[in-house]
Amino acid sequence: MKATAPGKIILFGEHAVVYNRPALAVPVEQVHVDVDVLDANEPGVWIHAPVINLQAELSTLPSDHPIGSVILKVFQHLGISTFPNISIIINSTIPVAAGLGSGAAVSVALVRALSSFMSLSLTNEQVNQLVFEIEKLHHGTPSGIDNTVITYNMPVYYMKDKPIETFRSGKPFTIVVGDTGIPAPTKESVGDVRRLWLRDSNRFEVIFNEIAQISLIARRSIESGRPEMLGELMDHNHEFLQQMTVSSPELDVLVYAARKAGALGAKLSGGGRGGNMIALVDPALAESVAEGLMSAGAKRTIITEIK
Ligand code: PMV
Repeated sequence: MKATAPGKIILFGEHAVVYNRPALAVPVEQVHVDVDVLDANEPGVWIHAPVINLQAELSTLPSDHPIGSVILKVFQHLGISTFPNISIIINSTIPVAAGLGSGAAVSVALVRALSSFMSLSLTNEQVNQLVFEIEKLHHGTPSGIDNTVITYNMPVYYMKDKPIETFRSGKPFTIVVGDTGIPAPTKESVGDVRRLWLRDSNRFEVIFNEIAQISLIARRSIESGRPEMLGELMDHNHEFLQQMTVSSPELDVLVYAARKAGALGAKLSGGGRGGNMIALVDPALAESVAEGLMSAGAKRTIITEIK
């Protein structure tokens, strides 16, 4: 039984979303996790995840293993106490700890493949809820944006504890993603922002409100078919992220390089400090912006069209 889940990028509103402001995220289908569940010839739950060099039987893994714990949680949720004899094959092209949602994508694909194998059909809402529980195990206090955009595989306007709003773009637009290659745990940057917010909440609340406005205007621009407006909004959002201390010299270098190569705007995307940045580009300039990013030190780039 096969299932696949895309990567994601946050277009606007990361970090502010933790403080109940809206954020926009979109799926990136160029990178994905693929899970296949098959009957095994030998007893046990066998996990094969070549990208992380994992080949093991579930019971031999520590209980907090990032993949083992997801599988256990899914069985528990589905009410399965006698485990089937299966092989779970996990392949992924999503870079890890880079803000592309690899963890949530593994969980979404695992939940879907395992539940289908057990002939249990889960709604998007159930998948999303279960993956959110799993995200909490690994990330402390996630806003829930990653599991939502990846489960629904559509652009989302996300606010914590509010009904999920997916939306469509009035006109496709092109984004170049540039990876600093620096793994940056989101938990740390989220924790640092919390400490700064506790120290100077008035200033941070003002920043979060500005970002909330940006997300709102961005959604309207996308829906009404004026994505070119997003460039300037990205530049502003990046400035606020710098003020929140979550950018880094490497991210700033890539953001400036993208603008210099002709991008309409650029910002970091996700937790920050490392991981990825994104740039809005005219499709005709996508390749040259990607080249500009590589020359400025990006470890890889992805060109994606948001529909
Ligand atoms: O690093 P990512 O792409 O998983 O994004 C984290 C986004 C934050 O707003 C910083 C945290 C969150 O849980 O929303």
